[in-house]
Amino acid sequence: MALTETAPAAAPREAKPADPCVMVIFGAAGDLTRRKLFPALYNLAKSQLLSREFAVVGVARSPMSTDEFRQKVSSEMKQYATGDVDPDLWEWFVRRLHYMPGAFGDKNIYPQLKDMLEKVDRDHSTHSNYLFYLATAADFFGPVVEQLAAAGLMEDNHHWRRVIIEKPFGRDLESARSLNQQLLKVVSEKQIYRIDHYLGKETVQNILAFRFANGIFEPVWNRRYIDHIQISVGETVGVEGRGSYYDQAGALRDMVPNHIMQLISLTSMEPPISFRADAVRDEQAKILHAIQPLSSEEVLTRTVRGQYGEGTSPDGQRVPGYRQEEDVPNDSKTETFVAMKLLIDNWRWADVPFYLRTGKQLPSRSTHIVIQFRRAPFVLFRDTPVENLMPNQLVLHIQPEEGISLRFAAKVPGPQMRLGAVDMNFEYADYFGQQPSTGYERLLHDGMIGDATLFQRADMVEAGWCVVSPVLDVWKALPPRHFPNYAAGTWGPKECDELLERDGRRWRDFEK
Ligand code: BG6
Repeated sequence: MALTETAPAAAPREAKPADPCVMVIFGAAGDLTRRKLFPALYNLAKSQLLSREFAVVGVARSPMSTDEFRQKVSSEMKQYATGDVDPDLWEWFVRRLHYMPGAFGDKNIYPQLKDMLEKVDRDHSTHSNYLFYLATAADFFGPVVEQLAAAGLMEDNHHWRRVIIEKPFGRDLESARSLNQQLLKVVSEKQIYRIDHYLGKETVQNILAFRFANGIFEPVWNRRYIDHIQISVGETVGVEGRGSYYDQAGALRDMVPNHIMQLISLTSMEPPISFRADAVRDEQAKILHAIQPLSSEEVLTRTVRGQYGEGTSPDGQRVPGYRQEEDVPNDSKTETFVAMKLLIDNWRWADVPFYLRTGKQLPSRSTHIVIQFRRAPFVLFRDTPVENLMPNQLVLHIQPEEGISLRFAAKVPGPQMRLGAVDMNFEYADYFGQQPSTGYERLLHDGMIGDATLFQRADMVEAGWCVVSPVLDVWKALPPRHFPNYAAGTWGPKECDELLERDGRRWRDFEK
């Protein structure tokens, strides 16, 4: 039924607790598990979104008993919980934790795991539903799923079996394709949940709400009114002890085919025909396929890469260059900064550039999307002191600010006609308060109820890699000659500004 103006506002539907299940975490002793997964599971329990029939089996190499595992998790929660921990609820939660030591590459652990799961399932009445979370190094994704299937743990009848796979999903198009093939030989697409933690962010999910739950934006959301779009994902951190991973990946692989493609697709996709997982993902996949692949010449003119050298952090500390980071070779050619200009080949977006930039050791941690509208015609102000008309900008603030702002021109009070830029601001915290969250709650809950809307389908992951593939190829063939080329604490190499200046545009500046 179509909603009409007179329809009463729908009462919010109470979220249901997730299905009973055992969540099996491979990589249970790792950083992601301690910082995000356990705090998120606890938050779900606190909001009554976790089934009472729930258990966790942690799997990791470290030899530990279940008791030791429970103690470890309890002591880590003191550091990583996002709010107060209720002792009774924690006691309930911790009794559901179990541990099995084992190397993921060792085939013998899978039959053992099967036996253990049967027991845990009986003890906690989890209906034989298993959610496997692969918080492991990427090399294990394929082999672990193969072994789970070989042990009969992925058979999906009268109960469900699902697997959540972390990033990086491949390191280029070819490896992503072959990982998809490897997985799809033993499990079906609907059992695979490829996670991108950007989709757990409220402000990222809000892009869909903003565009499709409001009547006034969609009519102007196209090439007729929009001049260009800027997406910036700035980080003030360096590689944070992950030098050996990062030096193999680089900023392009680490951020673009995944997180930044999510931001692009949600901002530019057509309205889906429903909110069902495949309807939304079909539209995202379509737009990713519509991004024009860059030719080799275009890679040279429309992309910029950078690596930070020594500099100063935003709080005034001296920062060593990337090549001085732990586990990074002192002649590393890996980029820590990337910027590019992309075009989307469809009726809505033809000729509207999407500029994106991301990097480490930048002056501010700030992720935002700037929608810059076309300038108003100048005629009216011809005989006034107004010299320039600034374009309207709508900014989706993803993090750390969370909200939306609209910049427009207003008359400066006084006898003459002068204009000033003003901002109309919405901040999440002013309306809905601060929700303590890790950003993983919704994604885990969705995994437990079988809603794949916020997870990547095989074709989407491959489409993301298709966009960056030509860039990877050209960059590999022409190693950078001037690295390091930006100082830590600055907004990347000067070529990044030139990318927009050449088109008569400039990056919106968000520094305080
Ligand atoms: C990860 C990247 O996927 O995302 C990191 O591997 C990056 O290098 C991180 O720092 C950024 O996530 P967030 O949520 O801090 O913006």
